[in-house]
Amino acid sequence: MKVLVGDKIVEREEAFVDIEDRGYQFGDGVYEVVRMYNGKFFTAEEHIDRLYASAAKIDLVIPYSKEVLYKSLLKLAEENGISTGNIYLQVTRGVQQPRNHIIPDEFPLEGVLTAAAREVPRNENQFVVGGTAITEEDVRWLRCDIKSISLLGNILAKNKAHQKGALEAILHRGDMVTECSASNVSIIKDGKLITHAADNLILNGITRQVILKVAEEGKIPVVERDFTVDELLTADEVFISSTTLEVTPITKINETIIGDGKRGPVTALLHRLFEEEIVAACGPLVKENIK
Ligand code: PDD
Repeated sequence: MKVLVGDKIVEREEAFVDIEDRGYQFGDGVYEVVRMYNGKFFTAEEHIDRLYASAAKIDLVIPYSKEVLYKSLLKLAEENGISTGNIYLQVTRGVQQPRNHIIPDEFPLEGVLTAAAREVPRNENQFVVGGTAITEEDVRWLRCDIKSISLLGNILAKNKAHQKGALEAILHRGDMVTECSASNVSIIKDGKLITHAADNLILNGITRQVILKVAEEGKIPVVERDFTVDELLTADEVFISSTTLEVTPITKINETIIGDGKRGPVTALLHRLFEEEIVAACGPLVKENIK
């Protein structure tokens, strides 16, 4: 397997992270995930734009242009022979010795870029059958709009869901639902799509943005507003969305069955419209048999 370090592609075994890298010491960095279908990027420009936006929000300078980064990621995918897969990339603030919380202003740190690409097939079965979720208090910081590599709050919630046999943890601050540990959440009530507004309390998912666009085209009314845990549990349909999960129905939350416990018609329509976007950008999707 080959990985990207800076602007060079090297064997996985040759890549290393300096122990005094601020990403390793402090979680001081940002990341992205780009999905690929049929060897072609899906919404890569949007992900790269969000990476630079996340970096700008923490005053981290990425030492490559967007064009160079795009080309490096494409080369990485090609060299690993990726057809349908994920590329994870991180940029940290770089190496600083001795360790110091304070970011030096007298000499600029060089941001450190790493990326790895893996073949990951689409989970067709899960898109149709859906998954279950738990609810969990959102104990993360108040800048969830930044796609930070500091993910302790996210991974502890996700792990709790995993331990309970659930796919995701739906997070809430008090009574207000925000998003999930690694995806956005939307509800359908009386034919309307309701999802938290893109403010500092959620990551404005690229998938979420595509879904809102296709919802409008499909004449599904969209309301971006706070909704409560009670509204979540009594929704007609619930789905989560992310680069890897696309539009995945949630059929049970804690002990509550959502709707009739099956993927609902609006969620199914949204996923079909989402797939049309993939096909338009990357070509036909090979459908596996759904169990
Ligand atoms: N997670 N919210 C959070 C907290 C996320 O981590 C993600 C994505 C999303 C959805 O964003 P997008 O649609 O742009 O993927 C929302 C990715 C998949 C991850 O960290 O693996």
